[in-house]
Amino acid sequence: MNFELTEEHLTVQKAARDFAQTELLPGVIERDTEQKFPAEQIKKMGELGFMGMMTDPKYNGGGMDTISYVLAMEEISKVDASASVCMSVNNSLVCWGLERFGTEEQKEKYLKKLTTAEYIGAFCLSEPEAGSDATSQRTTAEDKGDHYLLNGTKNWITNGKSASVYVVIAQTHPEKKHKGINALIVERGMPGFVVGKKEDKMGIRGSDTHSLMFTDVKVPKANRIGDEGFGFTFAMTTLNGGRIGIASQALGIAAGAYELALKYSKERKAFNKHLSEHQAIQFKLADMATKINAARLLIWQAAFLKDQKRDFVKAAAMAKLFASQIAQEVTTEAVQIHGGYGYVKEFHVERLMRDAKITQIYEGTTEIQKMVISRELLR
Ligand code: CAA
Repeated sequence: MNFELTEEHLTVQKAARDFAQTELLPGVIERDTEQKFPAEQIKKMGELGFMGMMTDPKYNGGGMDTISYVLAMEEISKVDASASVCMSVNNSLVCWGLERFGTEEQKEKYLKKLTTAEYIGAFCLSEPEAGSDATSQRTTAEDKGDHYLLNGTKNWITNGKSASVYVVIAQTHPEKKHKGINALIVERGMPGFVVGKKEDKMGIRGSDTHSLMFTDVKVPKANRIGDEGFGFTFAMTTLNGGRIGIASQALGIAAGAYELALKYSKERKAFNKHLSEHQAIQFKLADMATKINAARLLIWQAAFLKDQKRDFVKAAAMAKLFASQIAQEVTTEAVQIHGGYGYVKEFHVERLMRDAKITQIYEGTTEIQKMVISRELLR
């Protein structure tokens, strides 16, 4: 067993940390307040290779392993979880899914631009009545010979307005239940495709979350990912990988809040000594650091298994379950250590506390992770 990161891993980690400090930190509070998507920053992340990290270089990707990806996700998320959710969806759900299951034509046409952030990708599974219960898709993709006719509504779609490429999950043969579902690539601007209302969210307010409406959108058959009826398996398989990304986001949010609290505790005095000299604060810091380290090890294990092409479903769900839980606890304690300063925007921890909550909801709620884990245990 070897817990050492390679030189390459350390280089990626430092590059992500430097980028987050110099490019994401300035303006992060304003973007959160104004709900402004970090468009320029995402463009730069594309140029630096953060948007298609694990994709083969022949499709303009970084050709890196999942460990490199989770290290970068942690560093970006310490500072700006709105940027990191865009990064996670693009890398894990769209690029990875397309590279693994797409046709060569789809990879040439879409993947090569998604890896550089010339295009941003969105993953469209959730619906007004199908969030956790993903098999109950109401969006329909009627088979019309050489194309599908897409009708329906998708909800809470990350990158909803900024994306150019949308992977849409839709039902073609309801009688076949989940085996009748397809995954289709829909382009921004296809007639009948309308971006709907933007959600006014508690956290990750810089990310653009929208509903999407499809009315008789003609999607060529060439845009189907995988065989007819493969859509649900496609969604579940990509989400398994996506959960490692969101676990890393939760970890980064927790670690970012912890680092701020640690620094603050050494600067701020109360009762004639630094906060860090009070045992009550020392115990909090010890608990926070221990939880962060445990989450990091679960994530690295899941990433390692994925890189080894071994079964990582349970490990990814455990990593997401645990990291998203400790993100709540650690960010809440970070606010507590900051006292009144923690409750105002300037000190960042209140934003991190709000951002943490979504990691228990998207890409499978806490309860869904427990379902996935227990099914694997009882199999
Ligand atoms: N990996 C691979 N395949 C899986 C799977 C997994 N984790 N979980 C289920 N499947 C397969 C099953 O093997 C089965 O296939 P077969 O019939 O061929 O054997 C098929 O899927 C159906 O499985 P179930 O009968 O178990 O389906 P279910 O309805 O009981 O529940 C579920 C499945 C695990 C609850 C699933 O619906 C699920 O994961 N739901 C959560 C969906 C989710 O994460 N939504 C988040 C939206 S995306 C998002 O948030 C992105 C973003 O914007 C940030």
